[in-house]
Amino acid sequence: MQRAVITGWGKCVPPVRLTNADLERLCDTDDDWIFERTGIRSRAISHVEGTDLAELAARRALACAGLEPPDLDLILVASTTPELLCPSVATMIQERLGAANAAAFDLNAACSGFVYATATVTGMIESGFANRVLVIGAEKLHIAMDYRDRSHCILFGDGAGAAVYEASESTDGESGAGVISVDLGADGTKGGTMVVQAMGTRGEPYGGQPPEKTRLHFEGQAVFKIAVQGIAGSAMRALERAGMTADDVDLVIPHQANARIIESATRRLGIEPERVFVNIEHLGNTAAASIPMAIHDALQAGRIAPGDIVVLTAFGGGVTWGSIVLRWGYRTEPLGTHEGELPPTDATVFDLLQSNLDFYAPLHPDA
Ligand SMILES: CC(C)(COP(=O)(O)OP(=O)(O)OC[C@H]1O[C@@H](n2cnc3c(N)ncnc32)[C@H](O)[C@@H]1OP(=O)(O)O)[C@@H](O)C(=O)NCCC(=O)NCCS
Repeated sequence: MQRAVITGWGKCVPPVRLTNADLERLCDTDDDWIFERTGIRSRAISHVEGTDLAELAARRALACAGLEPPDLDLILVASTTPELLCPSVATMIQERLGAANAAAFDLNAACSGFVYATATVTGMIESGFANRVLVIGAEKLHIAMDYRDRSHCILFGDGAGAAVYEASESTDGESGAGVISVDLGADGTKGGTMVVQAMGTRGEPYGGQPPEKTRLHFEGQAVFKIAVQGIAGSAMRALERAGMTADDVDLVIPHQANARIIESATRRLGIEPERVFVNIEHLGNTAAASIPMAIHDALQAGRIAPGDIVVLTAFGGGVTWGSIVLRWGYRTEPLGTHEGELPPTDATVFDLLQSNLDFYAPLHPDA
């Protein structure tokens, strides 16, 4: 059977950082509280569109896989913050890369987006429709942050990650590399816990939308509980489907929502911290971008070896959840590198956030 194997990985983190100390100047919070409750010290604020981040992550992943854009059959972008409703980010990336042979579409499952995209790609590769697929998770979340509201603005950051999936003939039965099992789920009755009413992040702030529609409505405590249950239950089901237990897992790469969510969920699974990859400290929660960026960082840190059993698991708005069990292939080093960079900027983080602060000011008449 053909399986979907990750053969390329890349990420793009914009250069301007928002530290916890910066946030202390914007709302009533402090570094110790944020780090202790979330594991986050800083996050990136993008000076370019999310599509630009997606493009660079994609070029890096393609170089890593040793592929050219015309080799691709499909481009799938997972994003909660697409630049426009139509055309999709995926088609904009197709045009920019010159991936003329690729179908392209976006998918929104909030923070579970990369896992949903991987599940979709797995089905397409196993059915024989696609052989080489580029999956991107890209977010410009700061646009939905009201930086005077400490309940949510401390958590989220911007960034993009990408992975190339290729079909691999599994000639060695159970030990073959690639995606082994999938679990996906959703509970729309809890959708009200994370809501953004407006869509389209091009420009800054949102063109023509009132601030109450573009701001994230977020019920942190409720989300925390559902996330822990969602991640642990989903990963367990995916392992059962793979005929495995927690003991078989070499590394869990969870969605980076909050270090405490990751810790509680993996403890429930019976997986100790040494087998869990966490890189939230300087990225924050980057929604659909977090898992592909974490895959990149885990490989760079030497945390994945050929043949390892890796579990990807996520929870997000909707609410949605999902998990993937995969066996890593033989390669953990890039075949090539892409040297391009984002356009440079001299802007400070406060320069970048000024229009955001002005935009959301009417929601804080007493501030
Ligand atoms: C948002 C979150 C960090 C809040 O942490 P928490 O431990 O639940 O904190 P609480 O909301 O219980 O608040 C505890 C206290 O800290 C205060 N507080 C809340 N946010 C604060 C902040 N940014 N800085 C300082 N104090 C803060 C609260 O007002 C409260 O004070 P009180 O006890 O005097 O009333 C946490 O709920 C969370 O991470 N939720 C889910 C996050 C997520 O990533 N969701 C997306 C999933 S994909």
